Order: sequence, then structure tokens, then C-alpha cells
Amino acid sequence: MPKKIQISFDIEVFEAGELGNEELALIEKARETCENAYAPYSNFWVGAAILLENGEVITGTNQENAAYPSGLCAERTAIYWAGANYPNQKIKAIAVTAKKADTDNYLPVTPCGSCRQAVSEYENKQNEPIKIILEGKENSVYVIDSIGDLLPLKFTESSLEGK
Ligand code: THU
Repeated sequence: MPKKIQISFDIEVFEAGELGNEELALIEKARETCENAYAPYSNFWVGAAILLENGEVITGTNQENAAYPSGLCAERTAIYWAGANYPNQKIKAIAVTAKKADTDNYLPVTPCGSCRQAVSEYENKQNEPIKIILEGKENSVYVIDSIGDLLPLKFTESSLEGK
């Protein structure tokens, strides 16, 4: 019989009004910036807000393209901008929200696989976890301690060394 290993992680689920000020401010910023999505093909607007250790907030939205694969998700738009312009600032948290174009209801959203991998790279670079704050189900907000939780058995720099 092969041995089994189990991988699990916790999600903190905050109902409306329960969220701490820092997390609330960040998801609010993601909601605000969601309006700037350029998503004429999917009509699915995504907003991301990143909190840096110096307190500054970087935002990003999905940027689509008529050549579909050339588009980019909100999370990577934001995190690459942070990496390019604040290379020495640690990233504390990223909040992500989504809605259908021109509607008022925010939808539950989780970062796609490529965005998880991209965020994971920065977690690895700074050797400190990046908190993930997500629009959850039924108006809740999910808080996850680290992108690593969303990417078990992740591929990192050390994987290149066979570790
Ligand atoms: N999208 C994001 O911006 N972030 C995600 O984590 C999932 C998907 C975007 C990509 C595309 O512009 C639209 O949502 C529909 O997939």
C-alpha cells in the first residue's frame, strides 16, 4: 500500500462587517479599481490591489486583447507593476475581486493557476508570505495566509536545483 500524504490549508471566512481595517481597505481598493478593467471580450472585470510594506497600494485590472492569449489577468498586471517599480518593497497582501461588466454585485473569485505561480515567485523572492484576500461566496471575504496554500507542491527556484 502506498503511503498517503494529505495537504490541507485554512481559509478564514469573514462575513460583512467582520473584516479588519487593513483587509477591508485593500478589498475596497480592488473593488474600486475593478471599474478600470479592460475586458471587452469576456465582460468579466477583475480588480487586484496589492499592499506593500511601506503602506503603498498598487492596483491592477485585467487587460484583454483581440489576440486573446496576449491579455493579462488583474493579479499579474498588479504584481508585475509592483515588481518593476518597487523591486525592494515586500508585498504584504493582495486582494482580488470580480464582477460582470456594468453590474453591482461582486463575484467570488480565486486567482488562476498562472497568477498563483506569479505571486508564488514573489513570495519566494521576499521569503515572506503574501496574504491573499478574496471575494468569497455570499458576500463573505476569504483570507488565506499564503499563496503557497493555493499552490501545493509548487515549482520554485529550488525546484531547478532538484530540491
Ligand atoms: N482573470 C483575471 O484577471 N484574474 C483571474 O484570476 C481569473 C481571470 C481575467 C482574465 C480574463 O480577462 C477574464 O478574467 C476572463 O477569464
